Amino acid sequence: MTSLRLSSLLSGSFSAASSTAATSLFSLGRNSNRGRGVSRFSTAAALEVPITPSVQINHTKLLINGQFVDSASGKTFPTLDPRTGDVIAHVSEGDAEDINRAVAAARKAFDEGPWPKMTAYERSRIISRFADLIEKHNDEIAALETWDNGKPYEQAAKIEVPMLTRLMRYYAGWADKIHGLTVPADGPYHVQTLHEPIGVAGQIIPWNFPLLMYAWKVGPALACANTVVMKTAEQTPLSALYVSNLLHEAGLPPGVLNVVSGYGPTAGAALASHMDVEKIAFTGSTETGKIISELAAKSNLKPVTLELGGKSAFIVCEDADIDQAVELAHFALFFNQGQCCCAGSRTFVHERVYDEFVEKAKARAMKRVIGDPFKSGVEQGPQIDSEQFEKILKYIRSGIESGATLETGGERVGTKGFYIQPTVFSNVQDGMKIATEEIFGPVQSILKFKNLDEVIKRANTSPYGLAAGVFTKDIGTANNLMRALRVGTVWINCFDTFDAAIPFGGYKMSGHGREKGIYSLNNYLQVKAVVSPVDNAAWL
Ligand code: NAI
Ligand code: MG
Repeated sequence: MTSLRLSSLLSGSFSAASSTAATSLFSLGRNSNRGRGVSRFSTAAALEVPITPSVQINHTKLLINGQFVDSASGKTFPTLDPRTGDVIAHVSEGDAEDINRAVAAARKAFDEGPWPKMTAYERSRIISRFADLIEKHNDEIAALETWDNGKPYEQAAKIEVPMLTRLMRYYAGWADKIHGLTVPADGPYHVQTLHEPIGVAGQIIPWNFPLLMYAWKVGPALACANTVVMKTAEQTPLSALYVSNLLHEAGLPPGVLNVVSGYGPTAGAALASHMDVEKIAFTGSTETGKIISELAAKSNLKPVTLELGGKSAFIVCEDADIDQAVELAHFALFFNQGQCCCAGSRTFVHERVYDEFVEKAKARAMKRVIGDPFKSGVEQGPQIDSEQFEKILKYIRSGIESGATLETGGERVGTKGFYIQPTVFSNVQDGMKIATEEIFGPVQSILKFKNLDEVIKRANTSPYGLAAGVFTKDIGTANNLMRALRVGTVWINCFDTFDAAIPFGGYKMSGHGREKGIYSLNNYLQVKAVVSPVDNAAWL
């Protein structure tokens, strides 16, 4: 079981983040922090010879109507290994014509069945068999994800892919528990609601957690009997194709899930503006979220759920255990190479403990193990691509130029691929770019605060509102902060604690709608009111 495997990774005294599957991400951070002699500076040479992944790439074509097919144009695009920048595979490049084909297949599968016409239990069984197949192929899926994305293999194999299994089991569980209500209307009527699927759902996902983003979207859509056209991120097309093949092996009828690899302004925009797509779900940048909302509104007013950027505050109060706070704040920012929408990218520390915190945060970052993500014990792999790599280095230059203190890091590691040193800035001021914009990389910004009212105000000035971390032993302080922070998730004495049942989403410009948990079903259901007269009103 996932929870057992994950809890067995736990070590140390972080009882606030212990003992359940939901603590998994942090537990892995702790595990790999044991380090196995690979220092940050000795890895540069080791990076020259990347480890060969032990997985075959079997699927590079578009998945439309249950078949792997070439794109209409015949074009392909390269997907790259972030460790080297070398081509891993050439993948069929979908465009508007392929989206049309995929939507037609999804439309037919929805209108003519069998998917929405199956019993809910039959749908549940297929999703459940899919989960079993993911579990069976756990390590190959993880290897593919590491190869395409650059994230540490241990993390993918022990946390992310098991979480994909967990998510699919969770949604298999929902599939036969979705039903309407009877409603006590004021009059001689029998009133009931039917909870029906919306129809064809378009889904556009990013590259930072390709499989989890896939599961967060495909899971509820299928559980609610919708059909799907998914556009994966151009940087990471491989894992969705691999697992979608397993989903068909599990018995999914053709056309229910179609996967189109390709670029945003072409395939993505065609999906968001398609007249036959009745819902769109997106995770990615706030900028692209606005474009997608506009395309949805201008076409057929399809409803949109958005999970966008963030600039999450991690608040360390004066009563906090500093060693624990340092470790969690480090994890909150550096996990997944800093490429997390909810990264704790504004570390606010109370002035009384600030100096000690900065020293220890610096020391922790200097110990962080960078290396080939296939190597055991490695905590940090390369950034996803040259664009993100350049963007992060630019933010680091901007931090230096604006007067923040560079405590450690700031440079690339090695001569190829997209590795960046864990970087820590202290003396960061609210107005600096590194304190206001999403860096999406291994750059920690530490800010000083004096009292709670002040830090609440400063935390809430961000246009984003995705998540926050609060580190305190005082229940009153925790209660105060959890209510005052205008964000979709508050983690208290933990961070990045995820589970299939815990809802996730943003306030303000971090998006709208919630994914995971019971709330995610609302994104994929219509509510129909059915009203009929009752002859004998005495029975009301
Ligand atoms: P992006 O938001 O442009 O891309 C995410 C997805 O949207 C990809 O599948 C992409 O192909 C698609 N897309 C792009 N333009 C589109 C369009 N015009 N119409 C329809 N779909 C479109 O993000 P990108 O360029 O990969 O990264 C830029 C920044 O976005 C990052 O530096 C980071 O700050 C943020 N980001 C946030 C993520 C999150 O989890 N919230 C994930 C990825 C990026
Ligand atoms: Mg790639």
